[in-house]
Amino acid sequence: MRCDILTLFPAAVESYLAVGVLGKAAISGVLVPRVLDLRRWAGNRYGQVDDAPFGGGAGMVLMAPVVVRAVREVVQAQGLPSRIVIPDPRGRRFDDRLARELAGSPALVLVCGRYEGFDERVFELLPAEVISIGDYILAGGELAALVILEATARHLPGVVGDPDSVAEDSFTSGLLDYPVYTRPREFEGLAVPEVLLSGDHAAVRRWRREQALARTRRWRPDLLAPGTGTGEPEQ
Ligand code: ADE
Repeated sequence: MRCDILTLFPAAVESYLAVGVLGKAAISGVLVPRVLDLRRWAGNRYGQVDDAPFGGGAGMVLMAPVVVRAVREVVQAQGLPSRIVIPDPRGRRFDDRLARELAGSPALVLVCGRYEGFDERVFELLPAEVISIGDYILAGGELAALVILEATARHLPGVVGDPDSVAEDSFTSGLLDYPVYTRPREFEGLAVPEVLLSGDHAAVRRWRREQALARTRRWRPDLLAPGTGTGEPEQ
């Protein structure tokens, strides 16, 4: 999957792309990320990308010609059916289902806003999907773009070494994760559950399933609600 990220803070985005799941995905070639400085498309030699809002008010607005030119050029360079994503709190709420959907796209363009946001004509002129990662306001789209891309990259083939790990994830299995333990066997009076040391794989599987169900019932009963299609049969 090709992914171009347009931002005014390329260094911040690049450092995160280099580590973990995203770093691995890039090394293996299943993800081809590119970070581009929006200032490249600035309208004048001072690198201006924003201006004061018409009608007055606080802050600066990202200029439509800069953003529209940048996105069109990047989409053309990708030469693929691209999905253009603008992270913004007003958008469709991001979740694992949308991550899986985006992972099916051959190319993404993530456009990160700053300041008071984009000139409204950006949304009218570009066939962009506006996506929110939650009901709170970040200083810019960069963190949201990285959240969207990391959750999406996990669904690209080979990115998470053990496919069982993705299949067992909360939101794929429809259940929260079961608890895990490692050495030492006892810590501050708390022992690792006996069944995990038993070597009885069937018993371990049963126990984990029970634990996952119990946790989901306790913390996220909404995931078990009938009609959510989360894989748990109705009782
Ligand atoms: N940009 C600023 N806040 C955001 C949010 N909550 N989701 C997506 N993009 C954002």
